[in-house]
Amino acid sequence: VNHLLGIKYITAADIDLIFKTADHFKEVINRPIKKVPSLRDITIANLFFENSTRTKLSFELAEKRLSADVINFSAAASSVKKGETLIDTVNNILSMKVDMVVMRHPNPGAGVFLSKHIKASIVNAGDGAHEHPTQALLDSYSIRERLGEVAGKNVVIVGDILHSRVALSNIYALKLQGANVKVCGPKTLIPKYIESLGVEVELDLRKALEWCDVANMLRVQNERMDISYFPSTREYTQQYGVNKEILESLDKEIVIMHPGPINRGVEITSDVADSGQAIILDQVQNGVAVRMAVIYLLASKIQ
Ligand code: CP
Repeated sequence: VNHLLGIKYITAADIDLIFKTADHFKEVINRPIKKVPSLRDITIANLFFENSTRTKLSFELAEKRLSADVINFSAAASSVKKGETLIDTVNNILSMKVDMVVMRHPNPGAGVFLSKHIKASIVNAGDGAHEHPTQALLDSYSIRERLGEVAGKNVVIVGDILHSRVALSNIYALKLQGANVKVCGPKTLIPKYIESLGVEVELDLRKALEWCDVANMLRVQNERMDISYFPSTREYTQQYGVNKEILESLDKEIVIMHPGPINRGVEITSDVADSGQAIILDQVQNGVAVRMAVIYLLASKIQ
């Protein structure tokens, strides 16, 4: 059975194939008839054990554009609340003849764990602070679209690296494609192992912005935070928030990214988030084509 459990488990050639397939689907979904019949015989269950707006809707739309049958499950409104386990929940859903599972879960490694117990393909839609592979793929795809290629580009990931599955998956994806990667943020929000991944740490935001071609601004994840670790929100914004003034003082125009949801006025001001320099909504738009590609390529191994 084939899965997408993390960028850690795939190769640069896999990413290249996903992007070429996504290029095709991006062209398809810009046509008046946006649907293709490719996955007519495939049933996909979207299992969300944690909240989501973008990822959940993007996967559902990608699956429907491919003509798959789609069922949606939200843990908050399910028998998980009565104590049913993850494996029992998934096996009950699979017994209804489901071929593929897209899962978001608060526990790191939930997808890897599940892959040892079920026979369906699994796509990780975010597992705790571990990985969010399709987010990293759509992020790199969006850099490629804006700058022509990812190889050789300087990318800084700014903010709460410690709690971020987006950061880890982006680091794996960017390094695989030959980008130079730095992380920037308060020392308390940068994990000690990060340099072992071939990533430099820069504590000074201005220096990081002067160096980079692309800045990927992350949300401070208060919901995963031990509050004693954290500088105050005001301190964080003063030292690590990106605003128009700092961007205009640089000698080049850098690309601004954000995976969403945005804390406007904390890690990024509205005048930056809504500017032409930001590709935040392009990232969301590209997410549908990239997820179509991932699902299509996995499903072609099931059929
Ligand atoms: N980027 C992202 O994962 O957003 P959601 O949590 O809304 O899915």
